[in-house]
Amino acid sequence: MSIKFETKNQVPVPVPRRIVGDMILRFSTGERISHWVHAVSFFVLLFTGLGVLSTIFQPAMTIFGGIQVARVIHRVSAIVFVVVVGLMFFIGNPHYHWRWLKFVFKFTKSDWQHVSAFPKEFFGGHGIYPAPDKFNGGEKINSLITILGTVFITLSGIVMWWAPLFPPGLVRWAYPVHDLSMFLMTAAVIGHMYLGLLHPDSKAAMSGMLNGYVSTKFARAHHAQWYERLEKEQSERDE
Ligand code: HEM
Repeated sequence: MSIKFETKNQVPVPVPRRIVGDMILRFSTGERISHWVHAVSFFVLLFTGLGVLSTIFQPAMTIFGGIQVARVIHRVSAIVFVVVVGLMFFIGNPHYHWRWLKFVFKFTKSDWQHVSAFPKEFFGGHGIYPAPDKFNGGEKINSLITILGTVFITLSGIVMWWAPLFPPGLVRWAYPVHDLSMFLMTAAVIGHMYLGLLHPDSKAAMSGMLNGYVSTKFARAHHAQWYERLEKEQSERDE
């Protein structure tokens, strides 16, 4: 058996085995840190942002010590939301992040077939579609909403934060863009949380976002093309 090496900063490091017994590595530590930093800061932004958006939510801002403190927390968590996750594309094992980006922008015919079967799957039925790779069509759409929503919410947020530096017409546009991005991301996150925490077939994915691994049974059932590719790569490496 030979051990394969990949290079990191021009130093050879062993390629980790992705399939270990009946478990398979789905997300690296960096991907999990990114996901949870992004998720927690998203909820803090949403909650404090609602206080800034409407007087209806202002009484709830006493949790933070009032609306002025909530405004500061909103801006600090906006920095975490963008900077920490952005940095993960450059530190640690960034190729996992770049591979995810490349993956989700490549939408195939099979992904569309998954998307058209998705409503049935979401409500507990079983749709017919080709075996997905690492991410299915629905997950790619969730990723795209997250990426594009983050870009629009960040750019409009920068314009609103430093309004005197920008033309008044652009500042006027920034408000509806910020709010619309927030509504779209929140709607996607509600569906996403249902799939990750409660959906009978999908909730088994949660262990992948907690300790990195999912069962090979889950991988074969939900991402057969990905599982078979990794299994082939690993057995070729072990020969
Ligand atoms: C309590 C809240 C959340 C839970 C339980 C959760 C759970 C999960 C799980 C289990 C996965 C892995 C699915 C797979 O194996 O492919 C995942 C992936 C992902 N999550 Fe979350 N998540 C939460 C919040 C968020 C938030 C707030 C965002 C964005 C603002 C987000 C964006 C993503 C994206 C882009 C992916 C990769 C694509 C996908 O699998 O859909 N998540 N999440």
